[in-house]
Amino acid sequence: MLLDANIIKLAKLLNSAKRITVLTGAGVSAASGIPTFREASGLWNRYRPEQLATPQAFIRNPELVWSWYASRREKVSNSYPNNAHKVLAKWSQRVKGFSLITQNVDGLHERAKTTNVIRFHGSLWELKCWTACSASPKSWKDETVPFKKIPPCCPYCGGLARPGVVWFGESIDPNVLKKSLEASRCDVFLTVGTSSVVNPAAALVSEAKAKGAYVAEINIQKTPASEIVDLVIKGTAEEILTNLEKTIFSQ
Ligand code: OAD
Repeated sequence: MLLDANIIKLAKLLNSAKRITVLTGAGVSAASGIPTFREASGLWNRYRPEQLATPQAFIRNPELVWSWYASRREKVSNSYPNNAHKVLAKWSQRVKGFSLITQNVDGLHERAKTTNVIRFHGSLWELKCWTACSASPKSWKDETVPFKKIPPCCPYCGGLARPGVVWFGESIDPNVLKKSLEASRCDVFLTVGTSSVVNPAAALVSEAKAKGAYVAEINIQKTPASEIVDLVIKGTAEEILTNLEKTIFSQ
C-alpha cells in the first residue's frame, strides 16, 4: 500500500471534516474499462468530444452522435463500479455532510450505491425529446441496450429523441448548479480523475478554494487545477481512494 505523508495528511483532514465534497470525472471510471473523453481509444479516437457532444453535431448527423452514445451505453452496461466508486459510496453513506458532484454520465456512482449524487452533466440512461414536445416529460429513463433503431424516437411525438446529457454550449440545469455551488462550501474538496478543462465544472475547484475549503487533487497527471489546489496526489483514483479509506480506519 502506497502510504506517503500526503495520504496520511489528507486522511486526517477527511477524518475531522464535517463537510466533504468530491468532484469526479472520467478518470474515476477508467478502471471500470470506460474510455475517458480526452484519451478515447478505438473506433471513436478520430473524433474530439467537442465534435460529437454538441447540438450542432446532432443536427448535422444524429445517427453519428447516437452511435457514439449507444456504444458508450453498451460499454457501460457491460462494466461494473471499481474501488474508486466503492470508496466514495461508503463515504456518502457514512459522512453526513458528504456531497458527490460527478461530470460522469455513466451512472456507475449510483450503481455503487452512492447517495445523493449531483449529476452535473446529466445521464446516459435518460433521453429527452429533441424538440421538447409538449407531451413529453423533461427527460425519461431508458436503459435499452442495444437500441432497435438509431437514432431512437421520442415515444410521445414520434420525432427524434436525444441523450439526456449536457452538451458543449448548453447550460447546466440551474438546480444542479445551485446544489453544486452549495456543496462547494465545505471543509475538504477533492477533485478526482478530471482534466479540469470543461467549465463550469472545473470552476468549482476555485469556488471551493475561495470559500475556504482545503482542496486536493487526485489524478494520474497534472491538470490546470494542479496549480490552484492545496495538495496534488499523483496516482489512480482507485488506488489512492482505497489507501485513503484504509488510512482513515487505521488512525
Ligand atoms: P477527461 O477525459 O477530459 O479527463 C480524464 C482525466 O482522468 C484526465 O485528467 C486523466 O489524467 C485522468 N485519469 C485517467 N485515468 C485515471 C485514473 N485511473 N485515476 C485518476 N485519474 C485518471 O474527462 P473529464 O474531465 O471527465 O463533458 O471531462 C470533462 C467533461 O468533458 C465530460 O463530462 C464531458 C467531456 O467532454 C460533456 O460531455 C459536456
